[in-house]
Amino acid sequence: MLCLNRSEWCSLVDQRAPGSSPLNGQVGGDSADGQVLMYVSGVTYPLLTARLEIFPLDDRDAEAFVRYRQDEDIARWQGWDPTYAISDATELIAAQPVADLPVDGGWFQLAIRDRHTATLLGEAAIHCLDELADTYEIGITLASTSQHRGVASEADKRILNHLFTTGNAHRVTANCDARNIAVARLVVGAGMRQESRQFDLEFFKGEWITLEGYAILKSEHLDRG
Ligand SMILES: CC(C)(COP(=O)(O)OP(=O)(O)OC[C@H]1O[C@@H](n2cnc3c(N)ncnc32)[C@H](O)[C@@H]1OP(=O)(O)O)[C@@H](O)C(=O)NCCC(=O)NCCS
Repeated sequence: MLCLNRSEWCSLVDQRAPGSSPLNGQVGGDSADGQVLMYVSGVTYPLLTARLEIFPLDDRDAEAFVRYRQDEDIARWQGWDPTYAISDATELIAAQPVADLPVDGGWFQLAIRDRHTATLLGEAAIHCLDELADTYEIGITLASTSQHRGVASEADKRILNHLFTTGNAHRVTANCDARNIAVARLVVGAGMRQESRQFDLEFFKGEWITLEGYAILKSEHLDRG
């Protein structure tokens, strides 16, 4: 898999004249409507759905990203807390691998944006599990104003498709706090099966939490059509 650091990628994109052809199929390119696309290892971002564009998180997203990460109702389920600052976001963005998918053991943050306004609605975190071949973990977080509109389901299905087809994943997993009903509904709706329930597995934010594990195989995903 091609993996460039941020400055290498920016310099390749900056050198590109509008309308020129992709750089050996590695990076660059323009869509029919003139929007600049990124080709990395033959994969094109953004991933599009009817309402959404999904693109590696970048500096444009930072402010909105921080705003919802400071929301207590969101942070309670996640590894960050409401003190999450703009410096945390810029650090995370700068450390993003510039690639189509994370490298073994790594994470990759995708911005879920409104396709028409480019407003950031939330994020999808993709984790490549280094101890298991061709296996990814996915977690979706939306700003509270974007929840309950089917946005998470729409993004989840598109990203699963990306992982199983372009990424050639064999298996994709998701984990959640057993009390997080919204996530359970989301992942079951995308075809994942519950495979585990581990009681008081982690001591997290001052309490023991029970974790549920979900997964879907490539064959199962393709059978769903
Ligand atoms: C998890 C999350 C992304 C789901 O987003 P969402 O906006 O509810 O997703 P959707 O609108 O696509 O709904 C997905 C399904 O969950 C259901 N659902 C959503 N919230 C629910 C709730 N509180 N109780 C029951 N069902 C719920 C929806 O009705 C829908 O089910 P359906 O397809 O059967 O109609 C969102 O709740 C969130 O960002 N939570 C905070 C962060 C978090 O916990 N992330 C998970 C990290 S693993």
